Amino acid sequence: MKILVNDKELEVSGERVLIEELRDAGYVIPSLCYAHDAKHEPSCMVCMVRNEANNQMIPSCSTYPTEGMRIDVESDDVKALRRMGLELLLSDHRADCEAPCTVVCPSGIDVAQVLLYIDRKQMDEAFSLLSSAVDVEHLPCTDCKAMCEKACRRGTVDKCVDIRQLLIDLSEQKGLKKVDVTSKAVLDKSSFSSKLGRYNDKEKEWLREEYSQPSHCLHCACEGKAKCKLRECATSAQIKSPRHGVSSHLPVKQQVHVNGRLYFEPAKCIRCGLCVYNTKDSFTFMHRGFDMQVVVIEENKKDIDEKVADLCPTGALFVR
Ligand code: SF4
Ligand code: SF4
Ligand code: SF4
Ligand code: FES
Repeated sequence: MKILVNDKELEVSGERVLIEELRDAGYVIPSLCYAHDAKHEPSCMVCMVRNEANNQMIPSCSTYPTEGMRIDVESDDVKALRRMGLELLLSDHRADCEAPCTVVCPSGIDVAQVLLYIDRKQMDEAFSLLSSAVDVEHLPCTDCKAMCEKACRRGTVDKCVDIRQLLIDLSEQKGLKKVDVTSKAVLDKSSFSSKLGRYNDKEKEWLREEYSQPSHCLHCACEGKAKCKLRECATSAQIKSPRHGVSSHLPVKQQVHVNGRLYFEPAKCIRCGLCVYNTKDSFTFMHRGFDMQVVVIEENKKDIDEKVADLCPTGALFVR
C-alpha cells in the first residue's frame, strides 16, 4: 500500500510499525521507550507524528500504516509535542550528565574522570587522562583560580574536594609509567546537560556517609552518558537544560548493584518499561501514578544479563 509522508508517496507493507517504515525511508524519528525487536508499551511520546487525514497525533512506534494515511513527521507542531514529552521526562530526572568540576575547567581536563581513577587506584589511567589534556610538567592548575573547586558539588554537602592539590600530586608522581595517549579529553559543550539541583538535608547526611573515599568526591558525572538516548534526544531537540524544575522524589545518586558489572540508578529511570518487558521476572513496576517506579526483583537479580543496559535508553542501567 502507499501512504503519504510529508506529501511524498511511500510504499509500505502494512506489517511493520510506522517508525520502522519511516526510518527505513530515511526520516529521523526519535524514540526512547521503543527498541527494534523488543517488547514495548508506548509511554514516552517522543516518536509522535501527525496523521493529517484525521488531524491526530499518533505514536509511530505502535501504529501500523493504514490506507489513506498522510503523515507529517517534522512540522513545528509535531516537534513541539515531542519536546513537551521530553521536558516532562527531564523534569522527573535527577542527575548530572557531566560533573560541574569538569564543565568549568578552562583547561579542558576531565577532572571528574581523573578523580574517579584516583579513587579506584587506577593511577596510570588517571595520569594518562590528565596528560592527554595538559602538559603535566607545567600543570596549569598551579596558577588557576580553581573554578573546579568553586563548582564542586561536594562543597554543598560539607567541603569541596581538594581538586587542585590532588591533580598537582598526581602530576608530580614522576615514577608513573606514561600510558599511550591518543586523543585529548574535550567536553562537548553543545550537548544537553541534566543538572541535579540542591541536595536536601537527608541527602547531604547520606552522601557524607556513603562517599567517604580518600578524595571525598561524589563522582557526579553520569556513568551511562555515552549511551544515553534521553540526552541525545534532548540535544537534538535543542534543549540545553530542563525547563521545569526537577521534581523527582527518588533518592539522589543511589546506585543498586544488580550483579557483576551491572548497576541500576533509579533517579535516572524514565519508567519506559523496556527492562521490565524484555527480561524474565527481573524488574517490575512498583506503585502507581506519579509515584510509579521500577525496581529490581531482589531474588532474581543474580541472573540478569548485563546486556539489558544496552536496551535502557538512559544511564539508569549501566555497566561499570
Ligand atoms: S564532587 Fe567530585 S565529581 Fe562532583 S564536582 Fe566535586 S570533584 Fe567534581
Ligand atoms: S541518564 Fe542521560 S540524561 Fe540522565 S544524567 Fe545520564 S546522560 Fe544525562
Ligand atoms: S531502567 Fe528500565 S524502565 Fe528505567 S529507563 Fe532503563 S529500561 Fe527504562
Ligand atoms: S518511542 Fe513511541 S511512545 Fe516512546
